[in-house]
Order: sequence, then C-alpha cells, then structure tokens
Amino acid sequence: MQNKVTKAIFPVAGLGTRFLPATKSVPKEIMTLVDRPLIQYAIDEARAAGITEFIFVTSRGKSALEDYFDHAPNLEQELLKKGKDDLMAVLKDTYMDSGAIAYIRQHKALGLGHAVWCARRLIGDEPFAVILPDDVIAAEKPCLQQMVEAYEETGGNVVAAMEVPPEKASSYGVLDVEEDMGHIVKVKGMVEKPAAGEAPSNLAVIGRYILTPSVLRTLNEGKSGAGGEIQLTDAIAKEIDGESGVFGYRFRGQRFDCGSKSGFLQATVAFGLAREELREDLLGYIRDVVHLDRAAE
Ligand code: G1P
Repeated sequence: MQNKVTKAIFPVAGLGTRFLPATKSVPKEIMTLVDRPLIQYAIDEARAAGITEFIFVTSRGKSALEDYFDHAPNLEQELLKKGKDDLMAVLKDTYMDSGAIAYIRQHKALGLGHAVWCARRLIGDEPFAVILPDDVIAAEKPCLQQMVEAYEETGGNVVAAMEVPPEKASSYGVLDVEEDMGHIVKVKGMVEKPAAGEAPSNLAVIGRYILTPSVLRTLNEGKSGAGGEIQLTDAIAKEIDGESGVFGYRFRGQRFDCGSKSGFLQATVAFGLAREELREDLLGYIRDVVHLDRAAE
C-alpha cells in the first residue's frame, strides 16, 4: 500500500437548507467568502497538501459546481480583449488539470460515512483525505498540509481536532483521549454527537481527515449510528484497536463553521480584513458600528 496521500474526497451532496432561500438554486459550496466560493478554499488547501486527485461526492442540483471548475473560453476571450491580465490569472487559478476531478453521485442522503463510501472505487487501496468545505480554516500553513506532515510521523488515521466549549460538544464528533502529546493526541474512543453531558472530552473533530482504506471496508457494512445516519466517526473509531490507530491533530489556525450563518458572516469579516485592498474600509465600517452600538448602550 502506498503511503503518500494524493486523493481527497469532498462531500458536497448536502442540501444546505440552513441557507435557504439562496440554496434553492446555488449550491452552498458556491457561496462566496469575499469573492471566492467556499469550495475554492477547500481545493486550494488540498493542493497545498500535495493532493492531485479531487473526488466530489455530489447530488442532484449541484451542476453549478461542475461548471465552476470547467474552463471558461468566452470569459477568457473577453479578458484577453480588454487586457485584464490580473483577472485572467485569477481565472486560471481555478482551472484544474484534465482528469484531476471526478464527480460521484450520492443518490440518498444516508450520512457522511455513506457519502465517503460512495467514492470507494476511486480510492482503492490507498490512504486518502476527506475535506468538509463547510469547515473553513484560516492558517499560515494550510491545515491539511499540517496534517499530512503529522501523518508522516504517526501513520494511521489522523483527524483534525479542536477544543470546543462543553455545551457545544454535542454538535460534533468527540475524541476520548488516551495520551495527549500536545499537537498530536492518541485516541481511545470517538463518539458522534454525544448527548449533553456525555461527551468524553471537549476535543471535537473538525472536517479534515487522513484515513486508511480499511475505513472504507468498515463502511461497506452500512451500519447506521447517531441520528440514524451512516457516520464516518463510527467507521474511524473501528480503527482504534487496529494496526495503525487513530490520532487527533490540534491544528494551528482559526476554524469558521461556514455551515452556520453566524460562522459564515464571521469568516466573511475575517477574510475581508485579511485582504489588503479591503481592510481599511471594512475596519472603518466595523469601528463605526461598534461605536454606535456602544453609544446606544
Ligand atoms: C460532521 C461530522 C462530525 C464533525 C463535524 C465537523 O458533522 O459528522 O463528526 O465533528 O462534521 O464539522 P456535521 O457538521 O456534518 O453534522
């Protein structure tokens, strides 16, 4: 079995109902932070980590995603005619090598584990990454790259992890820690969406994974778990007693939950402030708002 991680799965089949009415016609992964769709952040992070094959698990109504990654000859001609080289460079950054992207349909919304399993034939017998584009992570060194480096030391299965307030733990997969080595923790248990007060820790799984192909074999069994869904967390937990084990990786960076409106807005502000050409204007506006708010108190 090869050890280098070159394939990544992007589960993008969700309906995005929390963002209705926008998601009536726009896949949530196309919604933009500043001027780039969520999915572009995920792809850039994967590329930085050395991923060369990108597998999208989609569903009905997601064709805008396929169009997004296609070449755009008409647009190119227009930009060329107008001498807009900078925009041409932006456009070309979104292009992917021919054959580097594959789209697989998840025909039924049976859970994250099922979505990942749908890509099993394209993964074969190799370690692979999973990126949930809703979890956007701002970091100096992209999160998946940090994880690939950790995985080169640990092998096995590596999941991104982050401390969350105890009352939020039931929204996540939560790790039971056997040994805490700082950035890396050895895991002895994993629970998906624990009931209030029953989480084994407040170390939550965030949407970045490096997994061994035996996780896919477990998913073959199609067993459902929390919420009646086939959970990726449960399949990874089966690896704990296996040969290679499971590790949590506390990444360096700030994670935004772009699956929620508030998280999406926070990410918009943070990524806006990180852009030199927008920073001053945006900061001025935020200062005014805070000032008015304080004055009203
Ligand atoms: C999924 C996973 C969960 C993980 C979370 C991170 O849950 O099932 O283990 O903690 O992503 O964002 P979801 O947010 O899809 O309910």
